Amino acid sequence: MDKINFFPDNLDIQNQKIILRLDLNVPLKDKIIMDDTRIVMCLPFIKQLIEKKAKIIIISHLGRPKGVRDTSLSLLPVFKYLKDKLQTNVYFFMGNFDEEVKNKFSHLKEGEVILVENIRYFKEETDNDENFSKKLASVGDIYINDAFSCSHRKQSSIHKITKFINKNFAGPLLKKEIEAINLVINTKKKPVTCIIGGSKISTKINVLTTLIKKVDNLIIVGAMANNFLIYKNFDVGKSLIESNTNNIIKKIYDEAKKNNCKILIPEDCVVGTSFEGKGKNKNLDQIKKNEIILDIGPSSIKKIQKIIDQSNTVLWNGPAGYFENKNFSNGTISIAESISKNTCENTLVSVLGGGDTLAAIKNSKNKLSFSHLSTAGGAFLEYLEGKDLPGLSVLK
Ligand code: 3PG
Repeated sequence: MDKINFFPDNLDIQNQKIILRLDLNVPLKDKIIMDDTRIVMCLPFIKQLIEKKAKIIIISHLGRPKGVRDTSLSLLPVFKYLKDKLQTNVYFFMGNFDEEVKNKFSHLKEGEVILVENIRYFKEETDNDENFSKKLASVGDIYINDAFSCSHRKQSSIHKITKFINKNFAGPLLKKEIEAINLVINTKKKPVTCIIGGSKISTKINVLTTLIKKVDNLIIVGAMANNFLIYKNFDVGKSLIESNTNNIIKKIYDEAKKNNCKILIPEDCVVGTSFEGKGKNKNLDQIKKNEIILDIGPSSIKKIQKIIDQSNTVLWNGPAGYFENKNFSNGTISIAESISKNTCENTLVSVLGGGDTLAAIKNSKNKLSFSHLSTAGGAFLEYLEGKDLPGLSVLK
């Protein structure tokens, strides 16, 4: 951690072109920002750079467009949001990173901002392409990664870009995130419970084999749990699953046994026939072929709350259901409220991570408190695992 090159407050950056990698991957519905937490967390540093009269070039991804210009994943709503919040000229760059790209940014004046359109519209970004990284780097003088939540990705704007710029730094939000997580890792009090949910199964499932060695309870919810239910021979109807996970799940159970870690998976659920509309409570052996599991059921919630009450540290990443529809947000909200209550009334240390988790807890009617909120989902888990994240190792 000490070795990471953090952005020094006293660096003279006036008139310098700063490439600022942020995570503006916010949930959108019909081009409307459903939760602005990630942007709000980035604003203070952008404003600081504006005050210091730097020329700011912001790069971010949104979703996973796989190299295609999918307009539903455009950063245009985020551009409009930034334009509204920042007291300076803000431009939107929709061009290509070709031989002339450097000139396309030359009009930028001191204290002005350009937001680059979704960087994952370029396939080269996710390929960590050498030439593309070089072109990206060519538009700036200084590179700052303030996107801890993307630092587990070996992608151009996070990783290889640093090869072509001399001055590379980690930003203040990234610093705050890893300091908070380090504090929890170094001082964590047992029993430690880790709750993993959400729909990014492939990103997280491998992490579980390592996490098992570090925690006392592992609670699996959300779409991730569906694969565990299949492993236990339940029919999950049309629920979201990842293929070929039986071997890894067997390994997870074997490792859990060896390491004395208890695994809890849902014992009941709420199903629907579509993501819209209402749900029905069901036992696991009652799910029909046309039904989708969209939340955990009341017995599962009770069991999870009991484990939270008995824990001294809780790490939570990924919602328990399709919280975007409030008929399926009960599991997630109940978990959040129980963690918050224990954090306030008892000595529970709680760390929550991930864009969806942050968005989901906003749906609670009560004011919730946690020890630390992290913007990071997959990166948070990999960091917890003890991995050297590619985006951080290049800043050392
Ligand atoms: C996240 O939401 O965790 C980050 O924005 C990274 O997104 P990714 O999993 O699509 O790389």
